Amino acid sequence: MSTAPTVRLPPVDELRAGELVLRPWRPEDVPVLQSLVLRNLEHLRPWMPWVAAEPARIEDRYALVHRWDELVREGTDWICGVFVQGEAAGSSGLHQRRGPGVLEIGYWLDQGFVGHGIASATAHLLTTFAFESPDTAAVEIWHDRANARSRAVPRRLGYELAAEVPADEPLAPGEEGVNCIWRMTRSRWQEQQHRFDPTVLPAA
Ligand SMILES: CC(C)(COP(=O)(O)OP(=O)(O)OC[C@H]1O[C@@H](n2cnc3c(N)ncnc32)[C@H](O)[C@@H]1OP(=O)(O)O)[C@@H](O)C(=O)NCCC(=O)NCCS
Repeated sequence: MSTAPTVRLPPVDELRAGELVLRPWRPEDVPVLQSLVLRNLEHLRPWMPWVAAEPARIEDRYALVHRWDELVREGTDWICGVFVQGEAAGSSGLHQRRGPGVLEIGYWLDQGFVGHGIASATAHLLTTFAFESPDTAAVEIWHDRANARSRAVPRRLGYELAAEVPADEPLAPGEEGVNCIWRMTRSRWQEQQHRFDPTVLPAA
C-alpha cells in the first residue's frame, strides 16, 4: 500500500543508547555505506530484494542518499545508519508506506554485528521516536515468514503479530512469499517498552 504521508516526524539529529548511535545517512557517508553494502551482498541477498540490483554505481548511491536526506528533512521518513562505537554496523529506518498513521521499521546489519541485540535496540529506539509524533497511530515491522532472525526482533520488543498475508512485491531468494506483519500501538508500547533495555549492548 502506498499513500501520501500523514505523519510528520520531529527533526532529530541522532538517537542514542549506550554505544549505539542512529543518525540519518548523509552524502558524506556514501563511501562508508557503499563499502558496507558491497561486503554484505551474500549475507543480505536471501532477504533483501533490492540486492538483486547491486552492485550500485557510487553516483546512484549518492542520488539515493540525497533522496533519503530530503525525506528526513521533510519529516516523512527517517533512514539512518546504525553505528556501534563509531563503526558502521548496518542500516535501518522509519518508512511511511503502509497507510495512514503507520510507520514501518526496516533493518539490516553487517554480518559481523549480528547476534548482539543491535537490531532489537535499533528497533526499540525507532519505535520510541516514531511515537514522538502525535500523528503516529502504529509502528509495524514486516518480514518474510522464512526469516527467523528478523521475526525475533519484533517478538523480543513485544510487538503483536497482526497478520500473515501473501506478498505482492518481488521476492528475495530466501523468502517464501508470506509477509508477517507485526504491529505496535501507542498504548501497547507504554506497556511493552520496558521489557527490553536498548542500552544493554556488549562490545561489538
Ligand atoms: C535481521 C537481522 C537484522 C537481525 O539481526 P540479529 O543480530 O539477529 O538481531 P539482534 O541484533 O536484535 O540480536 C539478537 C541476538 O543478540 C542476542 N543478544 C545479545 N545481547 C542482547 C541483549 N542485550 N538483548 C537482546 N538480545 C541480545 C540475542 O540473544 C540474539 O541472539 P541469538 O538469536 O543469536 O541467540 C540480521 O539477521 C540481518 O541483517 N539479516 C539480513 C537482512 C534481513 O533479513 N533484514 C530484515 C529484513 S525483514
